[in-house]
Amino acid sequence: MGKVSTAKLKQMKSDGTPIAMITAYDYPSAKLAEEAGADILLVGDSLGNVVLGYDSTIPVTIEDMIYHSRVVARAAARSFIVTDMPFLTYHGSSDAVLRQVARVMQEGHAHSVKMEGGREIAGNVETVVKAGVPVMGHLGLTPQSVHQIGGFKVQGRELAQAQQLIEDAKALEQAGVFAIVLELVTEQLARFVSEQVSVPTIGIGSGRYCDGQVLVYHDVVRYASPYRDKKFVKTYADLESIVRNGISEYVREVKERKFPDESHVFAMNEELVPHLYG
Ligand code: KIV
Ligand code: NA
Repeated sequence: MGKVSTAKLKQMKSDGTPIAMITAYDYPSAKLAEEAGADILLVGDSLGNVVLGYDSTIPVTIEDMIYHSRVVARAAARSFIVTDMPFLTYHGSSDAVLRQVARVMQEGHAHSVKMEGGREIAGNVETVVKAGVPVMGHLGLTPQSVHQIGGFKVQGRELAQAQQLIEDAKALEQAGVFAIVLELVTEQLARFVSEQVSVPTIGIGSGRYCDGQVLVYHDVVRYASPYRDKKFVKTYADLESIVRNGISEYVREVKERKFPDESHVFAMNEELVPHLYG
């Protein structure tokens, strides 16, 4: 399989080939996701909730994103890496935004960046695209605005809100995004947007008709994830019980002096041993 590019992703949309995206935050997760055939690795700011222990994505810094992005990049040979621009790093002047994007690309070794929002950020999206950096949009439930939205609510149940989202998607397409994440959007609206825009839509909690899907790694394999029981998540493995059982057994064997046993130890010449005691 060849390297994934924005051109290939666009081709996948026109061919009707679904795009599989999953988050990754470290070397082993990125390596395993790539080996499993994921097209896009998203270094999501969900790392705040999933691996840093925060209760939202707001505390995540540009340094956090850079650190995790460069680790993921080290593991990726084929997949396309999208790294989230964190809270309020893409809303200022063009110069300020370009400086932050440059850091994520140069220090974080990303292939592209993702930004939450619609018309209000379209100008900055266009600036970044014109500077040669692919941008992925993100509409619907945008977790960096959780306090303004007032919780994790499904977006696009009412017509007025749905029409706003359609306008935002068109503005992002116009600004030059190569794809748009639709998060927690009603299935009918996500389908309509996917039909209306030429760039691929990648859904999470947005139904069956998006051009691709994204889930959080730790939800897919159930590994201490805060969202795993949400309706839109499907869990394909249960690492949590495997890890918990494994570590419990290790602790028990240490306490019972069953580990280590003879097979795990190194020996010196027995004749030398008495000399240790003088
Ligand atoms: O940070 C993240 O994981 C995301 C996805 C849920 C789309 O933005
Ligand atoms: Na995110």
